Amino acid sequence: MPRASTVKQVLSLVTFVILLLSLGAAGTSLGLIRTNTNDGVTCYFFITYAQAMNSSLVDYNVPTCKLSVASATIATICLALLTAIELISVLFQINIKMLIANIIQVGFFIGSILFLFITMVVVSAGWGKTCATYKNITSSGGTPRSFFNIECTGPQFFRGELLRGPYQPNGTEIITAAVCAGFGVFLTSGAFSLLFMQQLFRVRPQNQRFQSDGHEIALK
Ligand SMILES: *[C@@H]1O[C@H](CO)[C@@H](O)[C@H](O)[C@H]1NC(C)=O
Ligand SMILES: *[C@@H]1O[C@H](CO)[C@@H](O)[C@H](O)[C@H]1NC(C)=O
Repeated sequence: MPRASTVKQVLSLVTFVILLLSLGAAGTSLGLIRTNTNDGVTCYFFITYAQAMNSSLVDYNVPTCKLSVASATIATICLALLTAIELISVLFQINIKMLIANIIQVGFFIGSILFLFITMVVVSAGWGKTCATYKNITSSGGTPRSFFNIECTGPQFFRGELLRGPYQPNGTEIITAAVCAGFGVFLTSGAFSLLFMQQLFRVRPQNQRFQSDGHEIALK
């Protein structure tokens, strides 16, 4: 049977790797949202029928894009801090025991899961609504009077006398951003569960006699 401290170290290393992957997913999502919304100011989310038919509109529902950039940024920062905490705990085999430190760690976990979830919902619902609006217009034989006739799954082209493009937003990249945010929610939740498992394998000598049938004994 492996010792509790060994199990704890392995769990800590696995948590670190999962957090690193989550950080990569959140960072990818943030980068794609930023490039495809010009940092949140050129927005094509939640475009309605009336908006698509108005040729004088260029930037649509800007607050929704700013919200998705902000939430992906917060999630990425939380994950970067969690990854750094876990790296320190793996390298120096430190058990974070202070209650306040644990509360902060749990706060970062909840923050990254919550804000990645918000990012996923806003980006997928926003782009989904836009796509549905344009699909409705073209499938009923109409022509949108916006600058682009939005292409859902690729870059945009301006079809005037000459075909110009490609322009942002790239539909594939926006969908990828939403998928990355969702994958980040999944991975971060997994890392959060491992954090609780690490607490189970924490060696607490003063408590062990109360756990005669518990995990600590079983693993010796
Ligand atoms: C779908 O298109 C029709 C006209 O082409 C329009 O009257 C209607 O409001 C559109 N519906 C939505 C949900 O955009
Ligand atoms: C188009 O949008 C502009 C700017 O919001 C607005 O002033 C105008 O009334 C809109 N035109 C139509 C036909 O809805």
